[in-house]
Amino acid sequence: KELDFELASIEKGGFEHFMLKEIMEQPRTFRDCLRGRLKAEEAYIKLGGIRDYIDEIISAKRILIIACGTSYHAGLVAKYLFEDLCGIPTDIDFASEFRYRKVVITERTVVLGISQSGETADTIVALEKAKKKGAKVLGICNVVGSSIARLTDAGVYTHVGVEIGVASTKAFTGQLAIIYMMALLIAKEKGSLEYEKYRHLVEEFDQIPDKIEQTLKNTYTAVEQISAACRTASSMIYLGRGLNYPIALEGALKLKEITYIHAEGYPAAEMKHGPIALIDENMFVVFIAPKDKTYEKIVSNIQEVKSRGGKVVALVTEGDKTIAKMADYTIEIPETDKIFTPVLNIIPLQMLSYQVAKLRECNIDQPRNLAKSVTVE
Ligand code: G6P
Repeated sequence: KELDFELASIEKGGFEHFMLKEIMEQPRTFRDCLRGRLKAEEAYIKLGGIRDYIDEIISAKRILIIACGTSYHAGLVAKYLFEDLCGIPTDIDFASEFRYRKVVITERTVVLGISQSGETADTIVALEKAKKKGAKVLGICNVVGSSIARLTDAGVYTHVGVEIGVASTKAFTGQLAIIYMMALLIAKEKGSLEYEKYRHLVEEFDQIPDKIEQTLKNTYTAVEQISAACRTASSMIYLGRGLNYPIALEGALKLKEITYIHAEGYPAAEMKHGPIALIDENMFVVFIAPKDKTYEKIVSNIQEVKSRGGKVVALVTEGDKTIAKMADYTIEIPETDKIFTPVLNIIPLQMLSYQVAKLRECNIDQPRNLAKSVTVE
């Protein structure tokens, strides 16, 4: 027992919890995902694992993503990107739903399974089902040689190293790293993205590891203050739009997993169809509000929450004065191209959950009732 304890503290590399270590590692793990696969100077992206399938992906009539939990949220980002950059109709399904309903797999459907562990029972069965129905099945996994890595026709590893904290952090950003590279590569090969734009995005993407590092540094104090303020909340709402809607879901998931505070993620504009009824002076609402085409709409959502007495926490692009004046708390995020904002926005939300869980003295690395890998139904 004592030896186990000592070993665990060595593995934590001086950090109090695995989750904190894994959050802080992200600048490096994200860079590791890009290593050998992306060269900004040459605007070059290579994903060896799926090289032989690139023509099939480019000519796909439909991409279908299958995953669970945090991996599902990465998949939702992928859906937005594959449609936006590559113009390929993309659907996503929870593995547990896909496996038990009649599914229609039409010709030239490419299925993409996403799983950190590669051992999630529902995802395994769902991908086997897709394969039997004749789809090409690709995977994004972290664990090398895992069941999903073996059953897929081809795939890409995230290479973020072992993730121990039950709440997934570095595996999620690793999945995003692969998804962005896939989308950019497909868009370039397909010609759905102008070459100059592609080149610019690759250069910008190459900066993301440094910007994750800046985000960790720049947001720390704000996150600490917000954690102290919301530690006794009984419920929180996370709102975002477009590519940041999945980040609202993932932020809320992180909070419930380790702090046991109820949280809901919603597309910001859907607030008026339900969640607005919950807003009073005790409700904290986290807005993800980068400067993009829905910025103005989010500003009016913030006003709606403020006028009902709710507490607003806003993730904004560095230097944003408009929202800073309205919100109770702001978290400033380094500027990047609007398509990459999800990667930076999730960082302070992971940290927020971590800090709140610590203040509430929760068992951060092993939250109650949860398992790192769900190998049963
Ligand atoms: C469990 C874990 C989550 C994870 C999900 C899917 O619920 O606690 O962190 O996102 O399974 O796991 P996978 O290994 O398939 O990504």
